[in-house]
Amino acid sequence: MSQSRGRPGAPEHQPDTFTFTKANLEEAERIMARYPQGRTASAVLPLLDLAQRQAGWVPVAAMDMVADMLAMPPIRVYEVATFYTMFNLEPVGRYLVQVCTTTPCMLRDSDSIVEACRNRLGIDFDETTPDGLFTLKEVECLGACVNAPMVQINDAYYEDLDAGSMVAVLDALARGETPQTGPQGGRHASEPQSGPRTLVGGD
Ligand code: FES
Repeated sequence: MSQSRGRPGAPEHQPDTFTFTKANLEEAERIMARYPQGRTASAVLPLLDLAQRQAGWVPVAAMDMVADMLAMPPIRVYEVATFYTMFNLEPVGRYLVQVCTTTPCMLRDSDSIVEACRNRLGIDFDETTPDGLFTLKEVECLGACVNAPMVQINDAYYEDLDAGSMVAVLDALARGETPQTGPQGGRHASEPQSGPRTLVGGD
């Protein structure tokens, strides 16, 4: 992630201002009301998330707005936004493809998933396709190792992937379809691929 050390984010993309939509402002007020008086700074994560869901990323102007709403020094909000890698500090494509390459996924051949994404999309990590549809990112363990290898695309997990099913998911998204989420290899969830081994009944 490239960013200067003071204010986060590349200056060329930064809008001058950011405001919540009416619906998101009402949602922000509902979120802030969950916290005790004097503790509304605790709402910084959900408010940054709300800003990201509205814009697709978190401009500095959104961080400044959140700081203002929560009566926090802006630097405290910058610290939070730049610490958590799930906040995008640059614009991303409509579909953010996050490929896990941590050890369990690596042992289940995440290399072939990375290659399939690179070949299908024609981009490398931290790049966006020219049509603005896809951004590709490499990420650490997403907590679904039992269904490795896997990727997260926006809020959805696609698991038990191989190169073919990875390309099929990307093709479906490019056609504007919503591919089936979860395991792509025939499993219902994380049961053994060879079938049940316990509580199978008997005499
Ligand atoms: S290592 Fe990939 S989900 Fe845990």
